[in-house]
Amino acid sequence: MTFLFNSDARRGAVFADAFAEALPDVPFTMDAATVDPGTVRYLITWTVPADLDRYRNLEVLFSIGAGVDQFQLDLVPAHVKVVRMVEAGIVRMMQEYAALAVLTLHRNMPSYAAQQRMRQWRPLPQIQATERRVGILGLGMLAQAVLERLQPFGFALAGWSRRPRALAGIACHHGEAGLKAMLRTTDILVCLLPLTDETRGFLDAALFSKLPAGAALVHVGRGPQLDHDALLAALDSGQLSGAVIDVTDPEPLPEDHPFWLHPQIVLTPHIASVTQAATAARAVVENMQRLRAGLDPIGLVDRTRGY
Ligand code: GLV
Repeated sequence: MTFLFNSDARRGAVFADAFAEALPDVPFTMDAATVDPGTVRYLITWTVPADLDRYRNLEVLFSIGAGVDQFQLDLVPAHVKVVRMVEAGIVRMMQEYAALAVLTLHRNMPSYAAQQRMRQWRPLPQIQATERRVGILGLGMLAQAVLERLQPFGFALAGWSRRPRALAGIACHHGEAGLKAMLRTTDILVCLLPLTDETRGFLDAALFSKLPAGAALVHVGRGPQLDHDALLAALDSGQLSGAVIDVTDPEPLPEDHPFWLHPQIVLTPHIASVTQAATAARAVVENMQRLRAGLDPIGLVDRTRGY
């Protein structure tokens, strides 16, 4: 019942220690070349290895990252459990980044950065957080953690999900009609959706047109959800006033891509939230213990939904 770690050795060493301490009877290896593939029951990886079928007794496929959209799930036998990375480090980093991005837009930082470069000392009109409406696309675990972090600032908070949700202090919307209703009343839109066939290209011209003029975007979902040209057009027309973008398609962007130098875009290289070895190792150990107790692991993917 070997656990095969197929990712960077630095994080692997932290996992090895955690397994040795908490699961001493589970053989742990980072060496796919020498492991007897028939003994591998658990595999953690970023992408599905091309030779996955050699692990004929595989039971659980863990993602080293928060998403599983990089897995080609049709290559994974139907009985294999697929598990997203749910760990405290990812959650904390996403809370930090989303708060930073929302505050950046709320306090006009892109405009002040431009003014600074032009030696302009010019206060801009500032509305209060209580007047600023922040809407999150997606109400999963990360989105809920972000909302919790934003709440003390006093923003008017809303969220949208496919299925109905109820969260204290949050205007929760769902479904097609709910999406329209939320967009109509959102000044800063945060995308934290998983990438699926339904969310590919979700952030497009039609969606931007449903926001109030001058709204802004924070994109921390996945690159292929955003139509780059539509964002540029919306910024040009004033329909959108700014954007903080952490994920793009492709990554990295080509050198001549207009996002790089756009004065209304703050661009970061997919660093909003990154799996942290110590907390991730703890989370995976806990999931191994849950599996042994016959419980579903935290982050179990519904393979029909794709997240
Ligand atoms: C980062 O985007 C991750 O999936 O962990």
